[in-house]
Amino acid sequence: MKQLSLDVNIAGIKMKNPVMTASGTFGYGLEYSQLIDIENFGAIVTKTVTLEPRIGNPQPRIVETASGMLNSIGLQNPGAKIFIKEKLPKLKEYEVPIIANISGRNETDFVKLAGLLKDIGLSGLELNISCPNVEHSGLFAQNADTTYKLVNKVRKVTGLPLIVKLTPNVTDVTLIAGAAEDGGADAISLINTLIGMSIDIQTKKPKLANVVGGLSGPAVKPVALRMVYEASKKVSIPVIGMGGIVTSDDAIEFLLAGASAVALGTVNFVNPNTCCEIIDGIKIYMRDNKFNKISDITGRVK
Ligand SMILES: Cc1cc2nc3c(=O)[nH]c(=O)nc-3n(C[C@H](O)[C@H](O)[C@H](O)COP(=O)(O)O)c2cc1C
Repeated sequence: MKQLSLDVNIAGIKMKNPVMTASGTFGYGLEYSQLIDIENFGAIVTKTVTLEPRIGNPQPRIVETASGMLNSIGLQNPGAKIFIKEKLPKLKEYEVPIIANISGRNETDFVKLAGLLKDIGLSGLELNISCPNVEHSGLFAQNADTTYKLVNKVRKVTGLPLIVKLTPNVTDVTLIAGAAEDGGADAISLINTLIGMSIDIQTKKPKLANVVGGLSGPAVKPVALRMVYEASKKVSIPVIGMGGIVTSDDAIEFLLAGASAVALGTVNFVNPNTCCEIIDGIKIYMRDNKFNKISDITGRVK
């Protein structure tokens, strides 16, 4: 009998399993390294890094919702300098590929940042062009043309594997997925959060200081799955699926829909060890279904 293998190669990033962290829900990995063995993940995707430090949006910026949460963090982060000097060296002590998620106000920011993050031991870059909680960067992924131009410019300054993170806040995600691929992306990831809001009926005010925020968690899973299905039929580069994954069954649904890897977000706030449970569940599923490798599962749903 052939050996069962969970290895995947996403755009040249060799991972021992297809389970990654979703940006912004796992800090820079270090915070969680006190709680769990972060080397269990196939890859760690960092919180978004921007050129300059950001304090993010005003509080309150987190609200629990039915089967999910709304956040309006607004890309709070210590900036590229601190990331490079303090966070990354510690993170690199772990035997796990590190993917830096980056964002910026405009093309120039993205290009500068991608240039700064070259040759410092990263395994890849994920371009967050889909954050709903900041003024500019979320808009790139709402338009095929701006997506193509941005990806194309970043592509020219880095040889690192380039993952482009897409938004669900569009009419036709396949157009944006295609534009990212044409621009030079090596993989796409989706979904970022869905724009939503919540109101306190006693104060008669929005619960988030920013009024609207991004919805994540199990509530978004069917939407995310549908978008991964659609996007993966459109592009020939690998797709990383995320949105509401809690169990191995959820992860397997994303693989069947067309994902080559999956990322865990909101669930990390509930149980940071979910990764291990999902990996074990995928192994059992593979044994039961006589699958030897992850690509035997990917895209089986036509
Ligand atoms: C509190 C919070 C912060 C997030 N911050 C980021 C971020 O900095 N960059 C990014 O690309 N996505 C960010 N996301 C989006 C997640 O990476 C993920 O795309 C989304 O939450 C869907 O996955 P989930 O339902 O498993 O959480 C954030 C999500 C949450 C809940």
